[in-house]
Amino acid sequence: MSELYKIVEKILENGKGVLAADESTGTMKKRLDSVGIESNEKNRLIFRETLFSSFSIKDCIGGVLLYDETIKQKTSSGRTIPELIKESGSITGIKVDTGAKTLAGSKDEKITEGLDGLRERLNDYYKLGARFTKWRGVYIISDKYPSKLSISANAHALARYAALAQEAGMVPIVEPEVLMDGNHSAKDCFNKTSEVIKRCYDELYLNKVDMKGTILKPNMILPGTDSNESISNNEVAEMTLECLKNNVPSEVPGVAFLSGGQSEIEATNNLNEINVKNDSSFKMTYSYGRALQQSALKFWSNDINNIKGTQEVFDHRARMCTLAAQGKWSESIENSK
Ligand code: G3H
Repeated sequence: MSELYKIVEKILENGKGVLAADESTGTMKKRLDSVGIESNEKNRLIFRETLFSSFSIKDCIGGVLLYDETIKQKTSSGRTIPELIKESGSITGIKVDTGAKTLAGSKDEKITEGLDGLRERLNDYYKLGARFTKWRGVYIISDKYPSKLSISANAHALARYAALAQEAGMVPIVEPEVLMDGNHSAKDCFNKTSEVIKRCYDELYLNKVDMKGTILKPNMILPGTDSNESISNNEVAEMTLECLKNNVPSEVPGVAFLSGGQSEIEATNNLNEINVKNDSSFKMTYSYGRALQQSALKFWSNDINNIKGTQEVFDHRARMCTLAAQGKWSESIENSK
């Protein structure tokens, strides 16, 4: 079996998911500011090391996505962060895009950059211990967006990235994120997400990406955050499954959703419902940032020396997400800590 397939299998085994701790320094500053903690290199490391040395990294987290700063940091005991992750039996991943910039030709939209010099950076990350990677394309919804230009340019970049990641021996997580911002309906989200995902796979095929050695990281199908529409978990699951079954090639082994601004409970509940109803060949799991870290961050900010307490909060969330990835989560389990 190709090494890439083994990595995918290990990340997704038994309801495991991905901890997306790959916030850029700017995004991490916003997260830390929101709980009144100064964003400096030391504090970012303390919080992340706390999470990465939690029990649930071994039991629930198949892969940990890092940012460039973190993959090069050392823990308090002198090990590198990838060594710490490996000791827990998890796999190190790395965000390799360099962020979304204004798209020339459609100034309200973004194009993700980072292809220049990517081959060399990938080889460096491999040497540092990374075995999977992530690239995020970002799309807005309105009556005229996402534009054909944004759909085409971001799909092209995602495909070129994925081909280079596989060439370097690492699994690409392909993340086309249709944002929740706006007053669009769930049906609009369904239609636009379908178009975006379909175009991504056209480009991935063109770039000869081996689908079996990839993971898709999409948004769920939801109404916009400013919309008055309210839909049930059941409807979210049905629309999300239909969108993926229609547009994702069946050779793709797994889908690891982003949480995208959903609360921890919403993201868990929706993932659970998707798994209860899953009649596709895809494994459906999580690659959450906020929906795994929010409560732990809040708890930690009250006393950054309370490592054990913070880890307990994080472990609970990771266990709940893994149960949801197996379709075994319920509100009563959630509340019976
Ligand atoms: O690219 C997005 C992150 O990896 C996932 O973050 O779950 O907070 O949306 P999120």
